[in-house]
Amino acid sequence: MALMIGIPRETAAGEKRVATVPEVVEKLIKLGFKVAVESGAGDAANFSDDAYRAAGAEIIVGAPKLWAASDIVFKVVVPTPEEVGLMREGGNLIGFIWPAQNPELMQQLAAKKATVLAIDCLPRMLSRAQKMDALTSQAGVAGYRAVIEAANVFGRFFNGQITAAGKVPPAKVFIAGAGVAGLAAIGTAAGLGAVVRANDTRAEVADQVKSLGGEFVKVEYEEEGGGGGGYAKVMSEGFQQAQRDMYAKQAKEVDIIITTALIPGKPAPRLITAEMVKSMKPGSVIVDMAAERGGNCELTEPGQAVVKHGVTIVGYTDLNSRLAKQSSTLYGTNLFRLTEELCKTKDGIINVNMEDDAIRGLTVIKDGVVTWPAPAPKLPAAAAKPAVAKPAAAPAAHGHGGGGAPASATTTASIFGAAAVLFLLIGAYAPAAFLGHFTVFVLACFVGYMVVWNVTPALHTPLMSVTNAISSIIAIGALVQIAPPLSAGLDRPDGWIRWLAVAGIALTAVNMFGGFAVTRRMLSMFRK
Ligand code: NAI
Repeated sequence: MALMIGIPRETAAGEKRVATVPEVVEKLIKLGFKVAVESGAGDAANFSDDAYRAAGAEIIVGAPKLWAASDIVFKVVVPTPEEVGLMREGGNLIGFIWPAQNPELMQQLAAKKATVLAIDCLPRMLSRAQKMDALTSQAGVAGYRAVIEAANVFGRFFNGQITAAGKVPPAKVFIAGAGVAGLAAIGTAAGLGAVVRANDTRAEVADQVKSLGGEFVKVEYEEEGGGGGGYAKVMSEGFQQAQRDMYAKQAKEVDIIITTALIPGKPAPRLITAEMVKSMKPGSVIVDMAAERGGNCELTEPGQAVVKHGVTIVGYTDLNSRLAKQSSTLYGTNLFRLTEELCKTKDGIINVNMEDDAIRGLTVIKDGVVTWPAPAPKLPAAAAKPAVAKPAAAPAAHGHGGGGAPASATTTASIFGAAAVLFLLIGAYAPAAFLGHFTVFVLACFVGYMVVWNVTPALHTPLMSVTNAISSIIAIGALVQIAPPLSAGLDRPDGWIRWLAVAGIALTAVNMFGGFAVTRRMLSMFRK
């Protein structure tokens, strides 16, 4: 029997998001589920009851009825005790839970014999889990919105302009912390035309900052900031002092500071002191995205925008609600992707498979038994990062080793020896014309190999397609066959040879223009 997924209206003050949106409802129904939405659940995010109804959902008036009708409840914000009270015994709940911060909620849910999947507990480093990563999708929206909030209170353009009335310099934006939210803020501010600088304690993000159009500003102090799992750690006092010196310098120079720095399980690091705020130009803006966790700026007032020493300090804690339609759509899609994983049979029934690393990580309570915290996933699937960091290092090991093991000196010598003997034999016995072609062939292989392996692996597909297009040398042969004879001694080719040549040109054209088209499409994925 198909299960009913229920979407209650979020009850937290000021929360405008909703856990699913009409376009996702359709997909859930295709997976075999029934969907019920509490009347008015999507109003604040501009999704009407009618839109949900049109997508196939049933509209239920009132939270008690909705919770009672639902086998699985999708929520955004951590449920209140009242909401848990409405939950069915043995029901399922998917949403933000933050089990470490909410032990009482965990008890209450366990007492309900519930099965609870906490989207905040997703093992984010599993590449398979990325499509379900609501922390990332929400942080991305919040980073974007932080820039928009800054632009809203900042009195100038972001981009530099030369107008008849005079020259306007571009705004300078400094982003503290280049995690998911920080990177989104960098991309957005750079897109608006600002000069963007950023800093993070994890040195590995420098390339990502650059690729989004920002400049990475280093702290002059050698200390690795990674605390495991892609997250930061608390830095030494020496580092913090050096970082404060650098931030103080930036504060004097820039117009806008957006802070996003967080350390898991710790209060947000204090990066912007009252002195730094004082030193900023009048009319400058600080957006403190860490406001809820204590703030990165000393003068932040959570939930408020305040003006201190002539600087507007925005400490809004509801950035996602301020872009509720976008946040809800991405969040709804994350939950849909999770539902797909839970219902591989596409029959509207879920299977909470504890053997699956991603599902195991998410499941904090299974049939009333607390299963949080999950053991670390078996596969540390972090392969993506080194691949981006060191594109050119791999070939040396792979090139001659066969299977990746570094080749010993003797193996390499014997391979080269055998190749030399082979070449000698070819040179001695092959006809002279063949030798010329063969030399070109060997050199082409060598050049091709060097070109391909020195390109970032992510760009291999566009590179291959463009070389494919360029190498359509067959076209020349075919053209020669079609063309009128160049010298009197040569006859025009037979009719059927000419038709073969026409077919050859047609096929080559597909290869050539197709290759360029594929390259364009691939490269446009990298351009922003
Ligand atoms: P977060 O919200 O915990 O922290 C935000 C940023 O603040 C981090 O980049 C952190 O290094 C930085 N930070 C902390 N203390 C700082 C200080 N004192 N000064 C300057 N910066 C400081 O982290 P978020 O955004 O949730 O994710 C962080 C990282 O996790 C990502 O950059 C990524 O590498 C990794 N991640 C990987 C995923 C994947 O592989 N699928 C998915 C999501 C995140």
